[in-house]
Amino acid sequence: MNPNKALWEKGNFTRIAASMRESGDALVDSLGIKKGMKVLDLGCGDGTTALPAAQRGAEVLGVDIARNLVEAGNRRAREHGLANLHFQEGDASNLEGLPDKSFDLVVSIFGAMFAPRPLDVAREMVRVTRPGGRIVMGNWIPNDPTLVAQILKISAAYTPPPPEGFISPMTWGIEANVIERFGAAGVPADKVSFLRDTYVFNFSAPPSELVDEFRLYYGPTMNAFEAAEKSGRTGALKKELDALFESQNTSSDKGKTSIPATFLRVTVAVN
Ligand SMILES: C[S@@+](CC[C@H](N)C(=O)[O-])C[C@H]1O[C@@H](n2cnc3c(N)ncnc32)[C@H](O)[C@@H]1O
Repeated sequence: MNPNKALWEKGNFTRIAASMRESGDALVDSLGIKKGMKVLDLGCGDGTTALPAAQRGAEVLGVDIARNLVEAGNRRAREHGLANLHFQEGDASNLEGLPDKSFDLVVSIFGAMFAPRPLDVAREMVRVTRPGGRIVMGNWIPNDPTLVAQILKISAAYTPPPPEGFISPMTWGIEANVIERFGAAGVPADKVSFLRDTYVFNFSAPPSELVDEFRLYYGPTMNAFEAAEKSGRTGALKKELDALFESQNTSSDKGKTSIPATFLRVTVAVN
């Protein structure tokens, strides 16, 4: 079994994505989606950005490696009556079956960053974008003090080291790497631009209950808890994550959670 696929099928990212819908919608709002635009959402999950893009009139294809999330996405498309939104299984490192130059916009929000072989990912994203089109990526930033970078950092400290040669997804959050990867795909550095953006995780229960959602449904955190259990460190991991979520919670309502997380927003103009 492909470990990348296994990691994401193990959990149920829909449970986490439920706290990210408002930010997904706001991000899509900023993309200048026009009716009839052809959009590919890579590593789309169950459609946090694909669905609002379709609601704005784009023809959207969501591609994700996890079968359960593709099914959840197609279910959500049906529930919302969106005939212009489809999800299918695929690997961002190899988009075989998707024609060259076929999308006006390729979006990947915390998605393609998790695929192995980042050079292949950049090449594939450029290959399927039409000249004059755009690629927009959202990537978590290594060592950033905000939520997701810290969850991944803490989780990694409890998980056995990855296999030799594994390239951390977090390297997509370093501008020089992004320039190098798109450069190898034929995109000059001046066509790649960056900004710091924010996603807010909103949850209608206290922070420690959101930690439990990550513990039960988010692949990387599930793996960390499994490893911690074996080494008798479950309590320490839960305590560290509770402290992190508590300290970052900005909600004034004690029964709720609202946590902003910074990411690197990458825009690539494809010629
Ligand atoms: C953190 S989730 C983000 C999902 C979605 N973009 C969102 O904003 O809710 C990461 C997603 O990337 C997908 N993914 C991981 N590796 C992938 C790969 N090699 N090809 C395609 N999708 C992948 C996972 O299955 C998961 O849905």
